[in-house]
Amino acid sequence: MALDAQTIQAAVDAAHRDCTTRTGGANASYIPYLASVDPSLFGVAVVTVDGAACTAGDSDAEFAIESISKVFTMARAMADVGPVEFHRKIGADPTGLPFNSVSALELHNDKPLSPLVNAGAMSSVSLVTAVDTEQRWSRILQTQRAFAGREIRLSVEVNASEQATNFHNRAIAWLLYGGGAMYSDPMEACDVYTRQCSTLITTEDLATMGATIAAGGTNPVTHEHVVDAELVPHLLAEMTMEGMYTSSGDWAYTVGLPGKSGVGGGVLSVAPGKLAIAAFSPPLDPVGNSVRAMAAVAQVAQALDLSLYKVPGAGDPPLDPLVKG
Ligand code: DON
Repeated sequence: MALDAQTIQAAVDAAHRDCTTRTGGANASYIPYLASVDPSLFGVAVVTVDGAACTAGDSDAEFAIESISKVFTMARAMADVGPVEFHRKIGADPTGLPFNSVSALELHNDKPLSPLVNAGAMSSVSLVTAVDTEQRWSRILQTQRAFAGREIRLSVEVNASEQATNFHNRAIAWLLYGGGAMYSDPMEACDVYTRQCSTLITTEDLATMGATIAAGGTNPVTHEHVVDAELVPHLLAEMTMEGMYTSSGDWAYTVGLPGKSGVGGGVLSVAPGKLAIAAFSPPLDPVGNSVRAMAAVAQVAQALDLSLYKVPGAGDPPLDPLVKG
């Protein structure tokens, strides 16, 4: 299928229109700030590897990046220590358990398994080369900015809300430290991880971040080289394995693209070498993935025939198994 701007815009508009009426889910409530976000906000965006953007709805509304930040910190840490050491220290397999699971650590000798669950994300933060907390934070923030091509900022409000309630993550950080899988001061890693989740992005920013991955690590809008192309397959593989948490298999089964979600309501999928699709809507299913954003990204992916697993000419799979009740 020809991926011209008109075809993409039509797919984005249709997904926004069709999915607006989709109800179900609830804002994340364990982070007080997220509970207060307007649940009716809904944006959809595609950015191509040529830097063209197609948007619909509230695509310029800012929201908390949350777990989607894990992909960009993974890129930073992997570039710093190298993909072999990164893989040896963190792993690349799905845990099969919720994103903040303590049992997953207990079951695997305190090894995080994946950089896209909270434990592995804090381990990743601890692997970023830095002499102190502020340098660690600044290098991670700079990485988010380079992927987005915009001066992404920390929300003082979101960060305060998360830092005041992140006791579970602090416990995980100490467990990792006890198990030898934490490579900086554990509370420093937890602090910086909490900040990296508390930056504000728009749906279009998110699509640009994904398009940088799709383009092999060079931002298609600013043309800045952000991460080596050799590291991109590791990012995409990990997004496939754990990006949508315990729905990652369902996402691969139906949409057939690497994906990543955050409890702020953002969902990203990347079609390597082509484009990235992003959507934002706050209400989440019980797994922690946005109900409306998943539906919209899935619809655009299918309309543009982007599944990596589909044989040319074959029909489309039903998208129904996506939302977990
Ligand atoms: O650490 C946390 O729990 C949040 N800051 C981020 C979790 C998250 O986004 C999981 N995603 N669906």
